[in-house]
Amino acid sequence: MNQLQLFLPCAAGVEDYLALEVLRITGLPPGCITKQRGGVAVRTSFAHAMLLNLYSRLAQRVLVLLSYTEYRAEPDLYRAASEVAWERWFTPLESIKVEITAQHSPLNSLNFAALKIKDAVCDRFRTVANGVRPDVNTQWPDVRIYAHLTTDSCSLYIDTSGEPLFKRGWREDKGDAPLKETLAAAMIAASGWLEGEGDLQPLYDPCCGSGTILIEAAQMACNLPAGGQRRFAFEKYLPFRKSDWVAIQKEANDAVSMPARSQKPIIFGSDVAHRMVDFAQHNATRAGVAGVIEFRGGDALQRLPPIDVTAHGGVMLLNPPYGERIDIGGVARAERPGRSQRGPSHGSGIHRPAGPQAATGTRYEDHAANSADEPTRGGRFGARELPHMDNGGDFFSQLATHWKKNYAGWTAWMLTPDLKLPGKMRLKESRRVPMWNGPIECRLFRFDMVAGSARTREAASPDPPKPDGSL
Ligand SMILES: C[S@@+](CC[C@H](N)C(=O)[O-])C[C@H]1O[C@@H](n2cnc3c(N)ncnc32)[C@H](O)[C@@H]1O
Repeated sequence: MNQLQLFLPCAAGVEDYLALEVLRITGLPPGCITKQRGGVAVRTSFAHAMLLNLYSRLAQRVLVLLSYTEYRAEPDLYRAASEVAWERWFTPLESIKVEITAQHSPLNSLNFAALKIKDAVCDRFRTVANGVRPDVNTQWPDVRIYAHLTTDSCSLYIDTSGEPLFKRGWREDKGDAPLKETLAAAMIAASGWLEGEGDLQPLYDPCCGSGTILIEAAQMACNLPAGGQRRFAFEKYLPFRKSDWVAIQKEANDAVSMPARSQKPIIFGSDVAHRMVDFAQHNATRAGVAGVIEFRGGDALQRLPPIDVTAHGGVMLLNPPYGERIDIGGVARAERPGRSQRGPSHGSGIHRPAGPQAATGTRYEDHAANSADEPTRGGRFGARELPHMDNGGDFFSQLATHWKKNYAGWTAWMLTPDLKLPGKMRLKESRRVPMWNGPIECRLFRFDMVAGSARTREAASPDPPKPDGSL
């Protein structure tokens, strides 16, 4: 098990960051990995497969390539699958499931192809295990077998992860459109927030929903491994040595570094829907980073910076509400045509609310302490402006105006499927990174809010990092 060919699938657009992550986790030289569209291949050991499962924040799974053959029809798939020594990986007491992906396959039915592969695995076990064959379990299999078909080639993989790796084990409460943890981690990687020497800059998500971006970031900052709270399929496999795994887990635990209780948080989140803020808080607690993040309710169009960033700048990272999937709350919602200015809770109810409390999301109870004219410097979290109703009700142009006025020194990274967003915000992006949110093509736009100016800075647009770490 010292020379395995692993494949780590990831969202399109994330390959460069995943390649760097794999090198960092394994310590392997760049020559051991190959970047492919939608993933990274790496030649390495079973121990590294365990490490990658535990630490990777960007990979969807860790697969082991067990066969690569040409095929023309189903019998070729049967033959290929029956030649794999599955019995070296698991016993017939484990249940299996075969999953197929295909690109331009000439076969009529992928289901039938999967059936042939399943038959081959079971028949092989019947032969080598005295007639005993594994059961099929399509919901909770012990072993997932993946087949990837192209026009003429078939790759067979055994999955070492089990549940996909974006399931970290801490999320119970989710909002209407939660970001996958893997994509949140990709946004953080692209922003470079964790890179570089010295203290981390403050991080703020003003539309934090269930808190995914911030929880990922906080876990990274505390060196908490992504998979520290879940189990993996490899734990049931024959090459698995419990003592090796315990040693890996112990090393991971020893490397965790939580900030001192006296240290003030530098990671902040807010959302107009108070129900979301509750979700985020609960999720952060389960993820072990509740003490590291400060969550508050509030409208992104009204919240002032949670902390003074005059000295070193701050980073905003968000996937704001968009389109039909998620409705915009707060004053922009109230200003939409046909909506009562007194609050959307009295509105028509045609739009799906972002949460039961989204409709009443703008609360002003602490304005007595924070008038709009009061300076927000001094690191106070939770200062807000008085509500204002200017700018015709468009959320994004109002957000841009608000940022230009109040967020000098911050760099905002926004993930959106709206490729025209910079135009709508009348901001010039300094970088645009293509990323896919499932099937939706998105861009992660970067806007630099320049101190003392209602303009954004036009920065040179650096290329994504190369696997050798160079730019
Ligand atoms: C696409 S979701 C963000 C999902 C989040 N990243 C997660 O993983 O759960 C957009 C969020 O923006 C919030 N939202 C909508 N209008 C807002 C406003 N005016 N101010 C602040 N948050 C708002 C919604 O309540 C929703 O939680």
